[in-house]
Amino acid sequence: MSQLELRPGLADVPVAESAVSFIDGKRARLEYRGIAVETLARESCFEETAWLLLKGELPTQRQLADFDDQLRHHRRIKYKLKDLIKCLPETGHPMDALQAAVAAMGMFYPARDVSNMQSNWESCIRLIAKMPTVVAAFHRLRFGDEAITPRDDLDHAGNFYWMMFEREPSPAIRKVLDACLILHAEHTMNASTFSCRVTGSTLADPYTVISSAIGTLTGPLHGGANEEVLDMLDEIGSPANAASWLENAVKHKRKIMGFGHRVYKVKDPRASVLQELAEHVFAESTRPKQYDLAQELERAAVGILGPKHIYPNVDFYSGIVYNALGIPRDVFTPIFAIARVVGWLSHWLEQLKNNRIFRPEQVYVGQHDVTYTPLEQRP
Ligand code: CMC
Repeated sequence: MSQLELRPGLADVPVAESAVSFIDGKRARLEYRGIAVETLARESCFEETAWLLLKGELPTQRQLADFDDQLRHHRRIKYKLKDLIKCLPETGHPMDALQAAVAAMGMFYPARDVSNMQSNWESCIRLIAKMPTVVAAFHRLRFGDEAITPRDDLDHAGNFYWMMFEREPSPAIRKVLDACLILHAEHTMNASTFSCRVTGSTLADPYTVISSAIGTLTGPLHGGANEEVLDMLDEIGSPANAASWLENAVKHKRKIMGFGHRVYKVKDPRASVLQELAEHVFAESTRPKQYDLAQELERAAVGILGPKHIYPNVDFYSGIVYNALGIPRDVFTPIFAIARVVGWLSHWLEQLKNNRIFRPEQVYVGQHDVTYTPLEQRP
């Protein structure tokens, strides 16, 4: 018998010391560098939150203006990268296109010397600035449309909306999109952040680090949940069906997408603030039917899933918001990625200060001293 205790999913096993963010899952508290995420979603903007996460403190007015300028300046992508994106199959998932493009970016901007902090910072700017351009370009090109050139006079969220739709967002839409980016920017030691740290621990270059994190985010248990929430709401059909559908789903041990979290044992605070901001968008356009259905499902779930401490997470509502903005389902997770790149890079920079390659243990459950039978003696 091995002496090692295995914790499936590494539950409750610390893998790093980090000062980037903090969650109290019982109090519904999420802090970025000590500041409550709800405050940032309501009062800050994505650019300021990005600096806060990367640097550890709020920027001065001058620092924020310079950072914002640099992000705007680096939004464009090289025509060869655009050509590469054009050559990807239009039926491919935008997350795969994003992962491929980010990996390729490392060839355009060599950054292998990760002891060079100036080069690391430039890579951070490039990744944050260019990922929205890649996502929007793939989305346009796959339908045979021209990719739209980024606009320097719009902020990060407004420019992404522009590159997707070639129209400017209303103030409420810009605000909710900006808040979605803030709410998804960081979330302690989740699977993709761990993946980023594992790859980063080998001193791989930042484009490789981020492309490995993007790959981890593609899975439905992590980034892909909000796409599946909409499929589930389509299946339920109307608020009148919500309670009976849920009872049946739980009876058959189905996972209810957008519910549950490894850390939160109450409603995810990001879900609550997102709902609040979404109401402003819904007030100026048609209130989506899916939103009423989702609220009915949440009400029905209190009695059924509440006793197991399973409540809505951020992705229960984010998909409904994106859908109301006209964003296609398969672009939901790429939006998660263009926000979360900030958290990944913050962990990467933090880890580089005191790096050691990850080399965990395993609990061996295989055989020993097995005899090798030559091929001709085997059936
Ligand atoms: N629906 C029904 N039952 C659930 C759900 C759910 N969404 N989530 C957890 N449970 C049950 C699960 O069946 C298990 O029950 P039992 O003990 O009777 O076997 C118990 O709760 C523990 O579940 P678990 O899967 O071991 O919990 P976990 O901490 O490993 O998983 C999770 C967390 C988020 C992967 C899981 O809750 C889940 O699959 N949720 C649906 C997918 C989803 O919404 N993901 C987005 C997460 S938020 C975005 C992010 O931060 O990445």
